[in-house]
Amino acid sequence: MNPASDERQMSPSFDQPRQDLPRHVGIIMDGNGRWASARSLPRLEGHRRGVEAVRRTVRAASELGVSYLTLYAFSSENWSRPQQEIMDLMGLLKRFIRKDLADLHKQNVRVRVIGAREGLAPDLCSLLDEAQDLTADNTGLTLVIAFNYGGRQEIAQAARTLALRAMKGEIDPASIDPDAISAALYTAEFPDPDLIIRTSGEQRLSNFLMWQAAYAELVFLPIHWPDFDHAALEAALAQYASRERRFGGLVTRDVMTAS
Ligand code: FPP
Repeated sequence: MNPASDERQMSPSFDQPRQDLPRHVGIIMDGNGRWASARSLPRLEGHRRGVEAVRRTVRAASELGVSYLTLYAFSSENWSRPQQEIMDLMGLLKRFIRKDLADLHKQNVRVRVIGAREGLAPDLCSLLDEAQDLTADNTGLTLVIAFNYGGRQEIAQAARTLALRAMKGEIDPASIDPDAISAALYTAEFPDPDLIIRTSGEQRLSNFLMWQAAYAELVFLPIHWPDFDHAALEAALAQYASRERRFGGLVTRDVMTAS
């Protein structure tokens, strides 16, 4: 077989955009604590194994041809956890960037971070900036880390930005439409997620990409996040491929019979 076509089969991103492959996948990485307590291990061990699942998932997403992967790593509501667990989660993100940044860069991954910077330690903010700067020109998978992120907070912040611009006379309030709001979100530069996966069997969005998920397909997997791997991502993509996306319209066969 010709090596070029072989490569195309392994990396769908070489092909025309495929309708049945989500361009943007968001993941609510849930179940680290339950994974650990089922094994009588401390919760931190569940989060550590969660970082290993992050590494596997970044590789798998690239291999499967996903263009954008957004991972919900710390929510605005996670501040209500015990102080030690908050410090552990911050520490794990720092260690992940320090340890994995060079490898992500080698994999041609572009790192972006969304969420509020308030409340984060200056050394963590510097690391996040370093990761974004180093990988800014990479052309492979865009890995979006949602950290200190809340969907409602993001929408409120966009509303404040637009209100201020209207007050200054820079925009006409009548021009504020859904596109204007999308453009004022952290995610302005990314397409909306096509698929949102949540692990651990819980079935809710928990303030993740509230605006952007309007037409996302939702897939809930019964496994805990530390067990997530290439096969689990493939299974979620297969569920996505079997769905019929209508975006509020009709499917082709219904259009034919509508009149
Ligand atoms: C949910 O499990 C998981 C989190 C709140 C944190 C996710 C963080 C990581 C996987 C590690 C850091 C991330 C990166 C990008 C390096 P849970 O604690 O709510 O589990 P439970 O519901 O079973 O208690």
